Amino acid sequence: MNSLRNNMAGLPEEEDASSYFIREIEKNDRSVLEMYQCSKGDVGCVVWDAAIVLCKYLETEQFCPAPPPAPSAWSCKRVVELGAGTGVVGIMAASLGANVTVTDLEDLQPLLELNIKKNQNLIRTGSVTAKVLKWGEDVMDFLPYPDYILMADCIYYEQSVEPLIETLKLLAGPETCVICCYEERTVGVNPEVERRFFELLLQDFESKEIPAESQDPEFNSPDIHILHLHRRPS
Ligand SMILES: C[S@@+](CC[C@H](N)C(=O)[O-])C[C@H]1O[C@@H](n2cnc3c(N)ncnc32)[C@H](O)[C@@H]1O
Repeated sequence: MNSLRNNMAGLPEEEDASSYFIREIEKNDRSVLEMYQCSKGDVGCVVWDAAIVLCKYLETEQFCPAPPPAPSAWSCKRVVELGAGTGVVGIMAASLGANVTVTDLEDLQPLLELNIKKNQNLIRTGSVTAKVLKWGEDVMDFLPYPDYILMADCIYYEQSVEPLIETLKLLAGPETCVICCYEERTVGVNPEVERRFFELLLQDFESKEIPAESQDPEFNSPDIHILHLHRRPS
């Protein structure tokens, strides 16, 4: 996969240039999402490759069959993004017309708010707001069930596997489509974390892998998988 441009250019004066660096993601209509990333911080402070692959998948023909400004399948859809980090995936969905809540831990809220503010000009018919959602905790604020749950690179942390599955079970209704994009990693605890995640997940969800031909022709990679998950009928 081609890497996208990171740069330090164009930072507005109110932001400290040494604290942030920008990742640009060009949309199919040539407009550009400018994602602020933190120079220091935890894993959520930067845009991960799985997020880029998922962003570009949201723009594929399956969802956006006609050239803009024709409405996309995202128009008016209710979307919740889990473990949003910078918020890039949810902000992309909002720019395509969805009404999105990007969620992450408390610490990530300022970065999510900043990225929403910086990309507001690309959000016309959709909307995006940031909220705290710690996996395994109450999801009342996010009901009724969303049309889509999006998650990029959220399967990586041993202690989070069970709470993440719990959140998916609480938040996904019978009609919800969960789009899960993850990078398959072969070192350390990662294979075991993935194995455990899918072992638990498949008890309650059906999974369909999206082939490379149905993903963005440029932004796809053999080690990054996109799955559509639906609750098994009870
Ligand atoms: C590897 S980052 C991916 C960020 C973003 N989705 C991306 O792909 O660029 C994983 C994200 O999951 C969030 N996360 C980890 N554990 C979490 C938990 N228990 N509840 C909510 N979010 C969590 C982290 O804060 C981080 O933003």
